[in-house]
Amino acid sequence: MFLRSFFVYNLTMNNENLMEKIVALCKRRGFVYPSSDIYGGLANAYDYGPLGAELLHNIRSLWWNEFIQRREDMIGIDTQIILHPRTWVASGHVVSFNDPLVEDVVTHKRYRADHLIEHWSKKQENRNTEPVIIEDLNMQQMATYLKKHHITSPEGNRVTEPKEFNLLFETSLGVISGEKSKVYLRGETAQGIFSHFRNVVDTYRIQLPFGIGQIGKSFRNEITTGQFIFRTFEMEQAEIEYFFDPTEIDWRVLLKNWQQDMWNFVTKTLGISEKNLKWRRHTDKERSHYSKETYDLDYKYPFGFKELWGVAYRTDYDLKQHSSFSGKDLSYLHPVTQKKFIPHVIEPALGINRTFFMLLVDAYREEKTNDKMRVFLKLNPKLAPFKGAVFPLVSNKENIVQKAKEIYRNLKKVLNVTWDDRGNIGKRYFSQDEIGTPFCITIDYDTLKDDTVTVRDRDTTKQERISTTELRKYIDSRIRSFSTL
Ligand code: GAP
Repeated sequence: MFLRSFFVYNLTMNNENLMEKIVALCKRRGFVYPSSDIYGGLANAYDYGPLGAELLHNIRSLWWNEFIQRREDMIGIDTQIILHPRTWVASGHVVSFNDPLVEDVVTHKRYRADHLIEHWSKKQENRNTEPVIIEDLNMQQMATYLKKHHITSPEGNRVTEPKEFNLLFETSLGVISGEKSKVYLRGETAQGIFSHFRNVVDTYRIQLPFGIGQIGKSFRNEITTGQFIFRTFEMEQAEIEYFFDPTEIDWRVLLKNWQQDMWNFVTKTLGISEKNLKWRRHTDKERSHYSKETYDLDYKYPFGFKELWGVAYRTDYDLKQHSSFSGKDLSYLHPVTQKKFIPHVIEPALGINRTFFMLLVDAYREEKTNDKMRVFLKLNPKLAPFKGAVFPLVSNKENIVQKAKEIYRNLKKVLNVTWDDRGNIGKRYFSQDEIGTPFCITIDYDTLKDDTVTVRDRDTTKQERISTTELRKYIDSRIRSFSTL
């Protein structure tokens, strides 16, 4: 047996290094580009290149398949980014969707007060300072804390007292300046769902309990951004509003069930290591204005455990608010008992971009084989941008290239595979490893004789000889049986 001396690591890697490596890999290989690159970039905006677009698409598909298509109690919709502005007054976002903003008195740069306190208190960890639960501090307490500990901006300057800063993005509709009307880019996809609750119940035969999900862009005027695609102005959410009768179902049980479903999706479907995940309950003061109970599923990003996915018990808050602001009856009539009431809601809300980031962090591996370093993404093949790469062993033998093209084109009809005939085989393997392609398929002289190809595995680098007639079946079964363990 062939014994390989190697050392695989990703978690032992210095976190700053890991962040730098992932950002560099994303740009180098076309996962993520700085937005508006040719104009010098736009702060905190990123675009997704050819491989990034594939990965995003695969994340959305897995989520949609698991939570919408495969469940009897779920349906999906797709609503506008710009909704009637009263939506956001009713939802409470115009008044309550705020972060605490401070300004550097010299540079006039703006920061989130809670982030400055968090950063400062992390640096004090080994000194004997009083512990602080930042989520529990109100504006006044933050002001006192900043002053008491002489907390400065990252530039070392004094900062102003914190004040409320609303995160909704304002824009206007209409072409004539005097007649323009103020609207907002949605701050969450949820409100499009609430505003169609009546339409869905009236047009689709579905009974409580049921959920409505959607995937789409949301916008937030974030004060502190940075950390790559973790916190951006424009982002994508996959949200579910799960409606139920609180006299029939205990919300605590339902919330627990949703936590389990979320956990299963992240660990089993996406293949994320359990040790890099943990639940965090929101404190009473931290919770959003609409929530009675919230948990975050935090992932261990290179800068620490941070929110990937939230689940909140929104009670009947939103439907009641929209009912009262719109004057429309948004109650539910039980078809058998004729009981009429406003349903309550559990909301699991996932960030697609944070999922993307998590997948790259979790999948990144470096492997030292004697003198060479191999980088590979141990992505679940269902998520990998390409399921396979097809190579002719040599690019100057017409019959080999022709056979390889034939196999490539046949596979391409059913699987997203790519073609590579540059450089030598070793370089092609390394290049595909780096983008997470699970299988490399090489067509050589033997293929012409016996119709078999070499399939090389991304994770083990082991090679197998497979008949071309079995190739599709082989790849399918390997994709199905993949495990990150
Ligand atoms: N409807 C509930 C809601 O919007 P949230 O916790 O504010 O809840 C849900 O957002 C998810 O959206 C978060 O868990 C996170 O993954 C993602 N998210 C929120 N703000 C983001 C931002 N500025 N950039 C990227 N993702 C963000």
